[in-house]
Amino acid sequence: MWWLNIIQILVCINIIHGDVFWYQPEQVHIAYGDNIFEIVVTWSTFNDTSNSIVEYGIGGLVLQEEGVSKIFVDGGDTRHTQYIHKVILRNLTPDSRYVYHCGSNMGWSNLFYFKTPPNTSDWQPHLAIFGDMGNENAQSLVRLQEEAQRGIYDAILHVGDFAYDMDSSISAYLPYMTCPGNHEEKYNFSNYRERFSMPGGSESYMFSINIGPMHIISISTEVYYFLNYGLKPLVFQYQWLEDDLAKANLPENREKQPWIIVMGHRPMYCSNLNNDDCTHHETLTRVGLPFLHFFGLEDLLYNYGVDLEIWAHEHSYERLWPIYNYTVYNGSYEQPYVNPRAPVHIVTGSAGCKEGRENFTITRPAWSALISQDYGYTRLKAYNGSHLHLEQVSDDKDGDIIDAFWLVKENHGSYPFSKMDWAKLDEMRLKNLNL
Ligand SMILES: *[C@@H]1O[C@H](CO)[C@@H](O)[C@H](O)[C@H]1NC(C)=O
Ligand SMILES: *[C@@H]1O[C@H](CO)[C@@H](O)[C@H](O)[C@H]1NC(C)=O
Ligand SMILES: *[C@@H]1O[C@H](CO)[C@@H](O)[C@H](O)[C@H]1NC(C)=O
Ligand SMILES: *[C@@H]1O[C@H](CO)[C@@H](O)[C@H](O)[C@H]1NC(C)=O
Ligand SMILES: *[C@@H]1O[C@H](CO)[C@@H](O)[C@H](O)[C@H]1NC(C)=O
Ligand SMILES: *[C@@H]1O[C@H](CO)[C@@H](O)[C@H](O)[C@H]1NC(C)=O
Ligand SMILES: *[C@@H]1O[C@H](CO)[C@@H](O)[C@H](O)[C@H]1NC(C)=O
Ligand SMILES: [Fe+2]
Repeated sequence: MWWLNIIQILVCINIIHGDVFWYQPEQVHIAYGDNIFEIVVTWSTFNDTSNSIVEYGIGGLVLQEEGVSKIFVDGGDTRHTQYIHKVILRNLTPDSRYVYHCGSNMGWSNLFYFKTPPNTSDWQPHLAIFGDMGNENAQSLVRLQEEAQRGIYDAILHVGDFAYDMDSSISAYLPYMTCPGNHEEKYNFSNYRERFSMPGGSESYMFSINIGPMHIISISTEVYYFLNYGLKPLVFQYQWLEDDLAKANLPENREKQPWIIVMGHRPMYCSNLNNDDCTHHETLTRVGLPFLHFFGLEDLLYNYGVDLEIWAHEHSYERLWPIYNYTVYNGSYEQPYVNPRAPVHIVTGSAGCKEGRENFTITRPAWSALISQDYGYTRLKAYNGSHLHLEQVSDDKDGDIIDAFWLVKENHGSYPFSKMDWAKLDEMRLKNLNL
């Protein structure tokens, strides 16, 4: 009978639909692999699939790469289970637009695309940078999504505190590079570690990557605050960081990547009106562990000539004059950011989250150059080895640029009072030669 056929078809559709739901890729995002010509695609499904595949190519899905999946059980009472899939696309062709989807024969994602950078030394990478984008009140997301899909950025730096269901709106189109924030703390950062795939394989806590003339280092400031998970992550990161900085300062490396930029979630300095650690003089990340003052980051980053430090956590924007140990070291009074004599810090945690805007103290500290409570995000463009341009976009003011400055450096490397560890550099040089 004809209507039986229809019911069969409907049942059939329903079943297929039901299955697809369990096997449908969710939370698709991409990141750079060990270099900018490698892309790691990560996604999750509710149930296990027979395999984890990315079909991709320039102009069509002509290539295929298989990866691995891993069951992930979160630490909650309901033991929520999902499968995290990772596929690495290697040896991508420079300066090309790739289309891709991911999944398996049991269900595919939408089609997405990404572009690869040119393989030239005059590439001028353009990044969007922000922290603290929540599920609720993700105010800047619409503007960022529109800009990302229009192709104005090359990559995103998300400086901690995520919305896990942010999904594919921008992170499926642009390498989405991250560091952990305090919101990621639950169950020893396991959600963060399993669901993001950053380079280096140290469980996404810290990594570095060269993007054009920039050596970008991402660290976890949270290892200073959640000592309940042990001292080991902190010590391990500090040693890794010192090694990475020494390597980045080998003349042959610093020549190619003169800019050393560090990102981490909690700032060393801020002039917000709250009781966060950055309002204290002896910030843990700045001076290190209480009393002992071991593992302080300010000296380390200063000694190895870091140019720019990007933080978030405060739900506002703040730009500092070049600073070291609470002293301002302008390049000159007229041009503070031309050959600054200490690192420059910005705090950009105002992408939008449910906690709302952060207030500032009434008396402005001498080191604070500009503050804003507007929701928004930062753009960074590296023109070359001597010129970086930064600007702050206000979402409240419909995309207006509320702050812009050039960071100009004719010479990179040690600052006037740097205690660069030359022995360490020699050790690195030997290690490199032995490779
Ligand atoms: C998915 O997994 C759940 C729980 O493990 C199971 O009950 C369900 O039958 C699975 N669904 C499919 C379509 O395999
Ligand atoms: C980029 O160019 C260099 C030098 O010409 C070459 O060695 C390298 O293989 C190229 N990389 C890619 C991904 O094409
Ligand atoms: C938390 O995870 C780190 C690895 O990232 C590990 O070294 C540490 O021992 C863990 N801490 C606890 C309490 O499980
Ligand atoms: C930083 O300044 C304080 C005084 O405010 C001083 O005691 C301390 O020695 C300085 N630290 C360094 C590393 O110069
Ligand atoms: C640094 O430069 C800014 C801008 O000219 C100025 O307002 C500030 O007072 C300077 N700070 C010092 C210590 O020179
Ligand atoms: C900032 O100050 C305003 C006005 O005093 C207050 O309503 C608001 O709750 C404050 N915001 C925070 C995050 O404390
Ligand atoms: C670097 O870029 C800036 C801004 O476009 C430009 O003024 C400067 O001349 C460039 N320097 C070099 C060495 O190309
Ligand atoms: Fe935070």
